[in-house]
Amino acid sequence: MASVTFQNVWKRFGELTIIPDLNLQINDGEFIVFVGPSGCGKTTTLRMLAGLETPTYGKIFVDDEDVTLTPPGRRDAAMVFQSYALYPHMTVRKNLAFGPAIRGEAKSDIARSVDKVAQLVGLDKLLDRRPAELSGGQRQRVALARAMIRRPRVFLLDEPLSNLDASLRTQMRAEITQLQRQLGVTTVYVTHDQVEAMTMGDRIAVFDKGRVLQVATPAELYRSPASKAVGTFIGSPNMNILPASLQHEGETVRFDCLGTSFGVAAREFSGSLPQVVELGLRPDEIHWTKDAPSRCSEKISGTVTAIETTGSETFVLVDVAGTLINSKFPSFAPIHLGDQVNLVFDANDLYFFDGVSGVNLRLGSKEPSVV
Ligand SMILES: Nc1ncnc2c1ncn2[C@@H]1O[C@H](COP(=O)(O)OP(=O)(O)O)[C@@H](O)[C@H]1O
Ligand SMILES: [Mg+2]
Repeated sequence: MASVTFQNVWKRFGELTIIPDLNLQINDGEFIVFVGPSGCGKTTTLRMLAGLETPTYGKIFVDDEDVTLTPPGRRDAAMVFQSYALYPHMTVRKNLAFGPAIRGEAKSDIARSVDKVAQLVGLDKLLDRRPAELSGGQRQRVALARAMIRRPRVFLLDEPLSNLDASLRTQMRAEITQLQRQLGVTTVYVTHDQVEAMTMGDRIAVFDKGRVLQVATPAELYRSPASKAVGTFIGSPNMNILPASLQHEGETVRFDCLGTSFGVAAREFSGSLPQVVELGLRPDEIHWTKDAPSRCSEKISGTVTAIETTGSETFVLVDVAGTLINSKFPSFAPIHLGDQVNLVFDANDLYFFDGVSGVNLRLGSKEPSVV
């Protein structure tokens, strides 16, 4: 087990800076997820930790050891790829035994570790099959087992579930997190899927354009996003961003937003407020007037422009004076396209973002105090 530190790490490919100045501390035994849109530098960061890429500048530590220039084979980091990369002509047993054999481990030791790790990931009955005779999920398990048999200090997984169908993905998510808890190995898991990140990570590092926007627990990311970018990335459907104007009235700041007006105590905000703000409102914090919690006193009206029902949930897109608002309701909603509807929300559920920088202006204080 080990902690990992990225210290002022930069990565350039030719003229292109992919990672500008990454600083990140990963705790011993932690399951951390790197999440962010495709192309934001997650794989590159993971490959630098594995030793498959060298930082252009900066240092990487595993515990107190500077591994920046240590070759991959001597890092004790095991990596699982999206493509599994199994040897097709070898049985599962041989696939698992291959690494230890190359490292010169004794045959009896290898047989014992293969049995142990196969049992752990539920492959014990499939050891004599070849990859072609396995399902996608089973192949993924072989890839995991092959990485685990190395007893690595750090376990690196790069979108390991993206080739699996949705239901298997959900099952494997749970299996991987359980396995990680059992083994306690420091794990870095890369995904572009925020649901995967939220359900699996002890902590999540949100990447965008090579930068880490925020590192926090799933609950912190959801309730206290550092910025509009994090707020809109985490949560499904996406957080709505509403235009607003503001006016100072003594100790109160008055906001006007889509025809509704409310005051918030000025002390709620860190520092002075910018000229331009945007408000964030999550789709599940919007209600129909008739079944809204009594604390909801802000009302907006609009036209229904799209309805999507999954059975357990209904997503309704409402056009409020040109702003499209995503809302989410339990079960089937008795509404139709073109209906005029009233939506209500509680101003305490809003997020306040700087309209230019996107910084969350009320960070760490999502407690009620609308006046
Ligand atoms: N070897 C390389 N040479 C040049 N550009 C690369 C190389 N590897 C990755 N990149 C670029 O770096 C950026 C980040 O890629 P990557 O780390 O794979 O992102 P992610 O895993 O988040 O999708 C992309 O724009 C990609 O095209
Ligand atoms: Mg990638």
